[in-house]
Amino acid sequence: MNPLPVLSDNVLDNLASAVIVFEADLRVAYLNQMAEMILAVSAKHVVGEPPSTWADCHGEALMDLITASAVGSPITKRGVVLRTERSEVTVDCTVTPIIDEAGAKYIIVELQQIDRHLRISREERLITQQALTRDVVRGLAHEIKNPLGGLRGAAQLLEAELDSAELREYTRIIIQEADRLQELLNRMLGPNRRPSYSQVNIHHVLERVRTLVLAEAGTRIRVVRDYDPSIPELIGDMDQLIQAVLNIARNAVRALDEAGTITLRTRIQRQLTIGAWRYRLVAQVDIVDDGPGIPPEIADTLFLPMVTAGTGGMGLGLSIAQSLINQHKGLIECTSREGETVFTIYLPIGSDPGAERQGDTTHD
Ligand SMILES: Nc1ncnc2c1ncn2[C@@H]1O[C@H](COP(=O)(O)OP(=O)(O)OP(=O)(O)O)[C@@H](O)[C@H]1O
Ligand SMILES: [Mg+2]
Repeated sequence: MNPLPVLSDNVLDNLASAVIVFEADLRVAYLNQMAEMILAVSAKHVVGEPPSTWADCHGEALMDLITASAVGSPITKRGVVLRTERSEVTVDCTVTPIIDEAGAKYIIVELQQIDRHLRISREERLITQQALTRDVVRGLAHEIKNPLGGLRGAAQLLEAELDSAELREYTRIIIQEADRLQELLNRMLGPNRRPSYSQVNIHHVLERVRTLVLAEAGTRIRVVRDYDPSIPELIGDMDQLIQAVLNIARNAVRALDEAGTITLRTRIQRQLTIGAWRYRLVAQVDIVDDGPGIPPEIADTLFLPMVTAGTGGMGLGLSIAQSLINQHKGLIECTSREGETVFTIYLPIGSDPGAERQGDTTHD
């Protein structure tokens, strides 16, 4: 029986809040479209089903509130985290028990997703923080580069003057180490040419990365493709995009150590906000690995330069990747747990990264 006969599905389906109605025995009586989206379930599969079909994947948080509300008065809780198999959403949740005229009991649950707002402010902070750190690092690298060139040149002159092979061994070390430092500084300074933008098929980028990864890692790694072929071309610098994805994929290869699977997944997103800008179409690229996950102690600072878990890297790969994607007006995010690490690259489609921003906030 429909517990809300006066409200048509049409009205409820157009709400920005999720609405779920449970019967007294906690079978789902109704859920609107937003609820389907937030909980990542289909009404067809859960309506009329016992709680075990949905409660497992949506965490005890919701269940606890519903049980508590059975006492009689509405309960509101802020910042409830609901975990689904694929994602995590943070909601404000209100649970209201009602009894209709016929004496039947229902429980209405309203969920308002708040992490959309949290995500936007976090992104803005992330982008600003990245830009600042990048400037500091580049400035520093630049300052060191010139005197280093002087040192190397002097060591070379000295080498030419030395007769003793034993002493030349020392100048050789100076030159070698100066070269090593020089290479590091070059990476810190980032690409030394201006980006050259053209129409890019994101799948060509991923195929190149796939070939390179397979060539480097051999048969121990499987690279699975899960592409949405309908994604239109975007405007970008092919080499820089390959570099960005490769930096992420190489980390995955290193994390997988012995063996494992990397999945390259593409999807299209509509009306997505990146930083302060809203884009009509955005390409989403997920680079997923089933390795051990990001060490928790570096998770918050992952994209900053020099952050590494001490596996022999310089801690520059992700910072460079983020900076390259930012130049394309995009963003990289990461979620990680043991067995699944997902780096997600968002790249606006139809927006020219070389063009200046206009005053409005919607980009086609
Ligand atoms: N897929 C992943 N799984 C587990 N840990 C990862 C993954 N990707 C990155 N990390 C961790 O993040 C750290 C930072 O990565 P980043 O690419 O910035 O630097 P790096 O790989 O250490 O050095 P570089 O890329 O400069 O050679 C890595 O050291 C690693 O500990
Ligand atoms: Mg790396």
